Formats: sequence, C-alpha cells, structure tokens
Amino acid sequence: MAPQVTSPVRSLAHDVWRAFAHPGRAWGYLRGGALLARHAGLPLAEVLRYRRELRDDQEFKAHLERSMGDVHYVFPGATALYVVVRAIKPRVIVETGVASGISSAHILRALAANGAGTLHSIDLPNVQQGSVLPAGRTSGWIVPDSLRGRWQLRLGDTRDLLPDLLGTLGQVDLFLHDSDHSYENMVFEFERAFPRLAPGGLLMSDDTHLHTAWDDFCAKHGLRPTRVGSLGVTRKDGRR
Ligand SMILES: C[S@@+](CC[C@H](N)C(=O)[O-])C[C@H]1O[C@@H](n2cnc3c(N)ncnc32)[C@H](O)[C@@H]1O
Repeated sequence: MAPQVTSPVRSLAHDVWRAFAHPGRAWGYLRGGALLARHAGLPLAEVLRYRRELRDDQEFKAHLERSMGDVHYVFPGATALYVVVRAIKPRVIVETGVASGISSAHILRALAANGAGTLHSIDLPNVQQGSVLPAGRTSGWIVPDSLRGRWQLRLGDTRDLLPDLLGTLGQVDLFLHDSDHSYENMVFEFERAFPRLAPGGLLMSDDTHLHTAWDDFCAKHGLRPTRVGSLGVTRKDGRR
C-alpha cells in the first residue's frame, strides 16, 4: 500500500488549529501521548510524529473507514500500537486475539512503514461475546492484502498454540494480549510471553481494567503496572 500522506506543514497547522478549537480534546491527546511515551520509554516527539503519520495516512484510514461499519467493537489502543511499532522497530511481534483485525492491521501497517519485522497472531474466532465476526468473514478480514506479507496467522486456542509458537520464535520484541480476558488466561499468556521478551521488549495487554491479572503479574515480576487507558504497557529491563 503506497502511503498517501498530508504534508508536514499542513499536518502541523491542523494540530494547532485543533488545539485552539478544542482545548480540552487537545489536552487529552497530549496527555495520552505523554503517558505512552513514559510507559513505553519513547521520546514524546516520536510519539507525536508517528501519531500524525498514522492520522495523515489517507489510504489506510479510508480502507478502515470502509470496513468499520461491519465491526461492532472498538480497539482503543490501535493508534498506540502503531506508534510503538514504528518507534521501537520490532523484528518479532506476537499477538493473541485477532477477531476482525483492527490491532493486526495497525501493527502490519507500521511494519510495512518500517520495512522489517513479522507479526505472529493467534485467534480462535467467534468464541467471545461482542467480538463475533460478521457473517462470511474470517479472522483478520480487515487487513488489506497489501499488508499480509509480514503476517503469520494461526487459528486455534491460545492455550494450545502459544507455548509452541513462542518456543519456535526464540526472542520476541513485542507481545500483545487481546484474546480471552479471563484472569487465568491473561496470567497464562503473560507468564509464557515474558521470559521470551528481549531485553527492552514491550509487554502490552488490552482490557487490563477488568480485574487484577495485569497488576498481580507486574507486581510478581517487579514491573510497573502502567497503563494508557485500559491498555497495559510495560517495558522489560535492558537495552535492545
Ligand atoms: C477482543 S477480540 C480481539 C480484537 C482484535 N485485537 C482487534 O483489534 O480487532 C478477541 C478475540 O480473541 C478470540 N479468543 C477468545 N478466546 C480465545 C482463545 N482461548 N484463544 C484464542 N483466541 C481467543 C475471540 O474469538 C476474538 O476473536
């Protein structure tokens, strides 16, 4: 997908105009960016730059907008995911929970812009209330064909597939949980993924507000249980 982007000057002018027109929203936008920068260990300027880059990617945005009418849930961390992948340039990413593929599409768009890296996803479709696929669709149907070259999708239960997948990959630079949000399954995934994370790698999880799995896991491993909204974001010690 060839990026169709707005010029940096127009984009910045748009930001300034928005800040004056909607100061409350601008403050929230900046605060979210600052939190992500702090928890993911990134310069704020990079977070803001990559957010703008995504916002200005007209072709990707238009593709998603055309598809979103059929999707009846939201993935609020999509922009944060794009930004993190652009900024840390991971080579190996693992995510659990694909459904229509909003998170996968954002990760793959960022990998395409990086020109490197592979996304390994696991999904057991249509077992979660609220994340059922539209009739006739398969897991990740939203992901544009042009972005599928860096994607390995496995269909099945994360409890069956994740240990073997992690075993074959060696080190992982970014792990995202968004499958079965039961306490037991979240801890199961974190406990398996964390030892495989490269030094400086990122552990991320959607829906960390549902119970204390995120907080308990982070406390056990001496990590800060940091969040941007309900998206858990914490970085393993060490330099990449
Ligand atoms: C919240 S949705 C994922 C949304 C997705 N990340 C996105 O941004 O579009 C959760 C997905 O995980 C799947 N799932 C639920 N339990 C699972 C399990 N035990 N193993 C693998 N996938 C599972 C659900 O069927 C659903 O497709």
